[in-house]
Amino acid sequence: MIETLFNTTEPLAGKRILLGICGSIAAYKSPEIVRHLLRLGAEVRVVMTQSARQFVTPITLQALSGQPVRQDLFAAEEEAAMDHIRLARWTDAIIVAPVTANSLACFSLGLADDLLSTLLLVTRAPVFLAPAMNASMWSHPATQGHVRRLLEFGAQFLGPDAGVLACGEEGAGRMLEPEQIVGQLRLALASKTLSGKQILVTAGPTWESLDPARGLTNRASGKQGFALAQACAEAGAQVRLISGPSHEATPPGVVREDVTSAQEMLEACLHSLEIPTDLLIANAAVADHRPTLQSPHKTPKSAVPEQIALTQNPDIVTSIHLHPQRPRVIVAFAAETRDHLDSARAKASRKGADTIIVNDISRSTTGMGSEINACTLLHDKMQIEIPACRKIDMARILIRHISKIHFASEVNHSRD
Ligand code: C5P
Repeated sequence: MIETLFNTTEPLAGKRILLGICGSIAAYKSPEIVRHLLRLGAEVRVVMTQSARQFVTPITLQALSGQPVRQDLFAAEEEAAMDHIRLARWTDAIIVAPVTANSLACFSLGLADDLLSTLLLVTRAPVFLAPAMNASMWSHPATQGHVRRLLEFGAQFLGPDAGVLACGEEGAGRMLEPEQIVGQLRLALASKTLSGKQILVTAGPTWESLDPARGLTNRASGKQGFALAQACAEAGAQVRLISGPSHEATPPGVVREDVTSAQEMLEACLHSLEIPTDLLIANAAVADHRPTLQSPHKTPKSAVPEQIALTQNPDIVTSIHLHPQRPRVIVAFAAETRDHLDSARAKASRKGADTIIVNDISRSTTGMGSEINACTLLHDKMQIEIPACRKIDMARILIRHISKIHFASEVNHSRD
């Protein structure tokens, strides 16, 4: 079951990706890109320029991709297997990583003196370029002129990053890490069911301090909320993520703000509503109570408190629902152990949520802190069961349903 869902939700699954490699020291990272793409279910073919072979061998890339590596425009055997026109038509996307200053110049001028540059002239598939070069080469007006021209042609640039370069100098010119390149590619190729929508996601637990060392929190890891933010960004939305303490990495394309307590989360959310918001996804496991008194100093071990007085925290979803800048749609979550559907329906109407997603946390294998999740989506009389799957798959499935339920008239589902 997990495998089937994986295949249907991963934007790169089944995609045919042509990876071009040019002659830069960063080419040593290109095999990693192949590995990431294959792991996500993409089909990969590799084309290398002559100088790329100085940095990484075709045998390595052939072994990893499981396909012959193309190098030469005039190799009769390679052309017989799949000629360059068919290869250019076969691909769903071309990514050149690394792309050098020389290759950028060739592509921008429309030169076609080797297989890779010829493919770039023939293809109508989206082209992604991940530059790698010395900072002075990158900032040179000649290179920047080529970049502008390639952008006009529709090429999309992934990076470069700034930092210490292979030559020892510092500045912009470092190729993005393979994981970032694949993450950006996934963002670009995913179905855009929430294109242009402004989405606010809350995630993670909150931490309610007792003193500088101790506090009250819960088992939420932030995984599901971060996955939802990722799925929204993949669907083309502008995503703001407000998270309690979490070790999860920020998904590509998501703007993250870290907070600690429920009160801080509420303030951050209300501030964030200054941007007119289409959708709030309230996934955070907000602490319902906080210690009434917070000591500025660590309480000594000997001072055992007989009781800890608690105060009710504000309800973030309710406050947002009552706010004059209420998002058009509010989706809340409910972690329940008993009568979970009825309690969740009551919770949705109490808090002003349009849709509620219920986790039955009496099952120890799914939900909080776990890698997988099982949910029921409730909206009006609609009840959609989503069986146990990885949290990223759950996020993509939920986002697909939410787009259809709430934004169907505004988005194009033709690629679903
Ligand atoms: O009441 P309960 O905590 O079960 O409600 C869960 C939903 O309400 C989640 O969407 C959660 O993000 C939100 N919530 C909130 N503020 C709180 C408690 C929960 O917004 N103080």
